[in-house]
Amino acid sequence: MSAVKAAGVRVRLDRRPILHGVDLAVASGAWHAVLGPNGAGKSTLLKAIVGILPHEGDIRVGGEAVAKLSAKHRARLIAYVPQQPQLPGDMTVSEYVLLGRTPHLGYLGVESRTDRAVAESALERLDLAGFSGRRLGAMSGGERQRVVLARALAQQAGVLLLDEPTTALDLGHQQQVLDLVDELRATEGLTVISTLHDLSLAAQYADELTLLVEGAVAACGTAREVLTEQRIAENYGARVRVFDDGEGRPVIHLIREKHHGYGE
Ligand SMILES: Nc1ncnc2c1ncn2[C@@H]1O[C@H](COP(=O)(O)OP(=O)(O)OP(=O)(O)O)[C@@H](O)[C@H]1O
Ligand SMILES: [Mg+2]
Repeated sequence: MSAVKAAGVRVRLDRRPILHGVDLAVASGAWHAVLGPNGAGKSTLLKAIVGILPHEGDIRVGGEAVAKLSAKHRARLIAYVPQQPQLPGDMTVSEYVLLGRTPHLGYLGVESRTDRAVAESALERLDLAGFSGRRLGAMSGGERQRVVLARALAQQAGVLLLDEPTTALDLGHQQQVLDLVDELRATEGLTVISTLHDLSLAAQYADELTLLVEGAVAACGTAREVLTEQRIAENYGARVRVFDDGEGRPVIHLIREKHHGYGE
């Protein structure tokens, strides 16, 4: 059974149709990348899957229709890292990451020792152990991005939705974050759906990719099937060369336009 299955998903924003009947099926423990140019509807699709945007069509997580789940039940099944999280600047890192435990708290809403341990471990795994008492307003963009990820991991949901999780991260932290998510996928069966503008990174980490263009699926398959020079040129308006990384995965290079200098 697919961990996440979307069929005929339509979303309207401001009465404008944004998604026009999107299908997506992600097996349990798989990593699925949603790609596409700016404005294609990638973030909209993730928001529909996590149940925070009304949609038509059927979206199921673990076999259950997300539209019918309570917020608490949904948060136990799906963790979501938005593209542009709104962070309360006055809150400390540890307070914020503990919020990830909210769906697991009992009737009185008090965190247990386990909740604190899970939150601390998420911070450690993202190189943030020394930041526990720091206010979110006093952190760098990349540090904040890792804090939001730590909160999502502390949630311990079986499905993780990541909307451009690496945009603010330096090279080392990009690799650390993606490797960590991949390790959780391999060892704990986490199911991952992420948008990624870096097509080479998407090719490295995702088992399957969906290319979304103007709110519809333009292609779906392995990185080699989806990321061809022609398709990237057509859909992104970009000049690229696609190389092989030696292990069958495509590496995408932008090609500079040639200008002739004075006197040439
Ligand atoms: N609240 C809103 N009201 C109306 N239109 C919206 C709203 N939010 C997004 N849109 C529009 O919906 C379309 C899809 O937006 P979305 O954020 O899903 O794109 P995206 O594929 O995630 O793009 P990006 O690569 O820039 O993150 C865009 O044309 C955007 O302008
Ligand atoms: Mg987006």
